[in-house]
Amino acid sequence: MLQLNNISKNFAGLPALCQVSFQVPQGQLTALIGPNGAGKSTLINCITGVAPCSSGRISFDQTDITALPAHAITRLGIQRTFQNLRLFPRLSVLDNVLTGLTCEGGSSLFMAMLRLPYLRHRERRLKLRALEALDRYGLTAKAHWPAGVLAYGDKKRVELARATVGNPRLLVLDEPVAGLNAEETCVVAEHLRQLRRNGQTIVLVEHDMDLVMNAADQVVVLDSGQCIASGTPESVQRNPMVLEAYLGRMEATA
Ligand SMILES: Nc1ncnc2c1ncn2[C@@H]1O[C@H](COP(=O)(O)OP(=O)(O)OP(=O)(O)O)[C@@H](O)[C@H]1O
Ligand SMILES: [Mg+2]
Repeated sequence: MLQLNNISKNFAGLPALCQVSFQVPQGQLTALIGPNGAGKSTLINCITGVAPCSSGRISFDQTDITALPAHAITRLGIQRTFQNLRLFPRLSVLDNVLTGLTCEGGSSLFMAMLRLPYLRHRERRLKLRALEALDRYGLTAKAHWPAGVLAYGDKKRVELARATVGNPRLLVLDEPVAGLNAEETCVVAEHLRQLRRNGQTIVLVEHDMDLVMNAADQVVVLDSGQCIASGTPESVQRNPMVLEAYLGRMEATA
């Protein structure tokens, strides 16, 4: 479904990604792992058009998306969450989730001001879908709270609700359980398994190895901007280069 060919990204001449290539098969969960600073978020930013790559090619269902802006990539059906949450703190939880449906609810300002019956009907339908998403993530009671006052775990789930409400073709998640306690992590892990069972294609960046090894169909490992391994969770766990990337880093910081 998604194909990355020789993706490189430089920041002020310094390489953050170097010739990264891999494929994301439809209906599978691909985990992207690697030590801090490996380039995982940078790669996600390239895929989603938040920060275009310096060279290489990214195609999504045969369409070249390498140079497309983020909103065009969203329209093609790629939705994401952010490692550092990006909610609208003053908007309600419901309105934040509704922003995940903007691709489907577009109309000109003039048309919106006319309040035509068909537009009101569409608004109601979108609101219903957003409420269903909030229900799936256990957030119904907080639908009208400003998102900014929520606890961190709830904010993470609002991002998940917003990213999934439009049934994206590809869901890209940047550390969805980072900072959550064990109980909250279990809840989110179950949501991910449910999405996977429903055939959702997912790219998951995560440091929680239990979650990765239990949920992933394939694992891609980045280290210092390079793809050092890819394959099944079992094969990657046994790969000496992966062990070196993680254990070497732990020894250095010990
Ligand atoms: N906007 C930026 N400007 C300059 N350098 C950046 C920028 N964004 C990322 N980098 C650098 O690129 C490298 C990769 O960073 P990135 O955030 O992609 O790593 P990561 O694998 O997501 O790490 P983590 O697990 O800590 O989230 C790092 O050396 C980082 O300092
Ligand atoms: Mg990151």
